[in-house]
Amino acid sequence: MAEVTQRRRTAEGCAYGRPAQHPDEELTRVGPNTPCGELMRRYWQPVAVSEKVTNRPRYVRILGEDLIIFRDKKGRPGLLYPRCMHRGTTLFYGKVSEEGIACCYHGWLFDVEGRCLLQPCEPDGGRNRDAARQPWYPVEDRYGLVFAYMGPPEKKPVLPRYDILEELGPEEEVRAYVGAFGATGDTSLAVAPYSWLHMNDNVMDPFHVQVLHSTFSTVQFVPQFALMPKVEFFATENGVCYSAKRRLDDGREYDRISSFLMPNIMSVPNPIQIDQERANMISWALPVDDSHFTMATAARVPRSAPDLFGGIRLNGKLWGEMTEQEHQDTPGDYEAQAGQGPISLHSEEHLASSDRGIILQRRMLKAQIKAVAEGGDPIGVTFDPTGGMVKIRSGNYYHASQHA
Ligand code: FES
Ligand SMILES: [Fe+2]
Repeated sequence: MAEVTQRRRTAEGCAYGRPAQHPDEELTRVGPNTPCGELMRRYWQPVAVSEKVTNRPRYVRILGEDLIIFRDKKGRPGLLYPRCMHRGTTLFYGKVSEEGIACCYHGWLFDVEGRCLLQPCEPDGGRNRDAARQPWYPVEDRYGLVFAYMGPPEKKPVLPRYDILEELGPEEEVRAYVGAFGATGDTSLAVAPYSWLHMNDNVMDPFHVQVLHSTFSTVQFVPQFALMPKVEFFATENGVCYSAKRRLDDGREYDRISSFLMPNIMSVPNPIQIDQERANMISWALPVDDSHFTMATAARVPRSAPDLFGGIRLNGKLWGEMTEQEHQDTPGDYEAQAGQGPISLHSEEHLASSDRGIILQRRMLKAQIKAVAEGGDPIGVTFDPTGGMVKIRSGNYYHASQHA
């Protein structure tokens, strides 16, 4: 029977009898004890905007784990497992003080590293309280984001710095954003209902810039992107880059260099002000769980900038203000990626020559998943406290015509 079905499908391409399809489990499962989840946990991940981490505890879901984030009254951020180790109520209702967070039920007090400082219902405030520890993860503020390290403690790398976000001028600052549309100025969606890998694939896909963003829908960024680029992909020491070259009307060659850094980081050059040479932002496609993600971005901007891109509008509307028909008429990244489903069915993909960057990225991810599974350290992490400065190549570069 299977043979008949297969013959019929091969001959006619008819939908009837097509084989069942499935996602690439290795790259899309990000929870604890999954191969990609373990890889992700070997890098610092930005989990919140620093200024939104306050004395008011709130939930964050990250890599399939529900956690509580807060800032104690000394200003230290904390990321704890939410179920109180005493009898399991949530620390969401806890009270934050100088020392940490006290559970609402019986007052056990935990500091930002989960140490139990007080058990008020026990003799002497808990004679064995030093033995108690609420599960916690290390966190650090940088670039306006709170970064968490959720991997094995003995493998904790240095929290990286990025050269394009360092050595700010007096009129510059770094701004941070967390939300499904990253830094586009549209805050209508906190979390996107699909896999982080859809977004990650999108980064090393310069051809969709010509189609989806520039000719199919309308000009979503700049008219120059409507020129079909000549693209080269190349592996780097910590990821993949592409160079997309376009010959402009004035004879100059425009070279747009974009970067993917292991395992879920991107640096995309400014797509609106393409006269801005070096890229000014780093973003993370942050897995919330297997079928949800959000974007965290840190961007270097002039202090006077109203917003990073001023809010990208099509026909005068932000994404969240558009009707379904308008989404259909002018689809963008969200529509194309959400359209791949909550988790794509990779077994039915037909990767072509334009997908070389995606193939390189996925290969690199799989090689590093294997390296971690075999006890090694993945590329792009450093344990040297004097190291950790990451050089970013991304930018909009121009060359005089060689044929003049
Ligand atoms: S459940 Fe938290 S102190 Fe008892
Ligand atoms: Fe895009």
